[in-house]
Amino acid sequence: METTTNLTNQARERIAAAATEDELRAIEREYLDKGGIVAGLLAAVPSLPGPERPAAGRAANQLKLEIQAALASSRERLAQAALAALRSSAGFDATLPAVRAERGSLHPITQLTRELTDLFHAMGFLVLDGPEVETDLHNFEALNIPKDHPARDMQDTFRCDPEGKLVLRTHTSAVQVRAMRRLKPPFRAIVPGKVFRQETTDASHEHTFHQMEGLVIDKHISVAHLISTMKVLLRGVFGREIEVRLRPGYFPFVEPGFELDARCPFCKAGCSVCKQSTWIELLPCGMVHPNVLRASGIDPEVWGGFAFGLGLSRLVMLRFQIDDVRRLLAGDLRFLEQFS
Ligand code: PHE
Repeated sequence: METTTNLTNQARERIAAAATEDELRAIEREYLDKGGIVAGLLAAVPSLPGPERPAAGRAANQLKLEIQAALASSRERLAQAALAALRSSAGFDATLPAVRAERGSLHPITQLTRELTDLFHAMGFLVLDGPEVETDLHNFEALNIPKDHPARDMQDTFRCDPEGKLVLRTHTSAVQVRAMRRLKPPFRAIVPGKVFRQETTDASHEHTFHQMEGLVIDKHISVAHLISTMKVLLRGVFGREIEVRLRPGYFPFVEPGFELDARCPFCKAGCSVCKQSTWIELLPCGMVHPNVLRASGIDPEVWGGFAFGLGLSRLVMLRFQIDDVRRLLAGDLRFLEQFS
């Protein structure tokens, strides 16, 4: 008992006299660490005569609590002293406005991409990526768009070399070819990504924009699967059931090919978004052309599928009512801050 009383007084004095956090930490280690003084006292308790043990144990624990309390109050004392020193130092002005930290946020395209990725992931789709500099083979040839095919004019292409062997991909469909060559059917995949077209820019055209390709390869796939998948997509984006319709559309890599329209989510009788028609052109899609399957080593007698090419940039514009596609990649923080 005497020992613990002495120890307590000794420790208190040392802690009260400590001038730095380092000193406090050294004292703390000496008394409270494994193998420290308090641990030594507790370890000695069992060797005492039976009746003395409870009191000795209590005394040792009491010592520990006292030291902890003394350490806490000394730390508070040091912190206050540091603050006082700062306040009285020249050049410190507590009335100056604080420097506000800028807060970043996810780009609206990233936000929508993540949402759609979750949605398709839940339906068993893989999320694939591909290069932005593509070969003519992936971007055109293997998609049933041979050289001199008029469909090449539909997409004005940035070429990376004089022979035109490398291009900036004009659509995420290029990754369809990579997927079919790499994966064994059946599979489902989406490909969100950037695409490029040599285009005169205006409010609805940009040379760089985002698409999300979808591709399902399996047995017995029909247009009904395509439609129901698109309805799940729309329900995810707009939060409710939305009617769709198909119009014929031509793309060399699908047959039949469609333009899928969605009932305007913003009105009942016509508005500026749907140009008074109540329908919004949502995405091109169709059943994968047998030539495309064959070009990637998949037997069209056994396998089939559907593909769609969602315009991510367009969908972001619709969702957030953005009037000019060029705002999306202009890097203007005043615009981007609105989506945090
Ligand atoms: N890749 C086409 C485009 O960008 C869109 C598309 C994708 C059409 C898939 C049909 C199927 O124009």
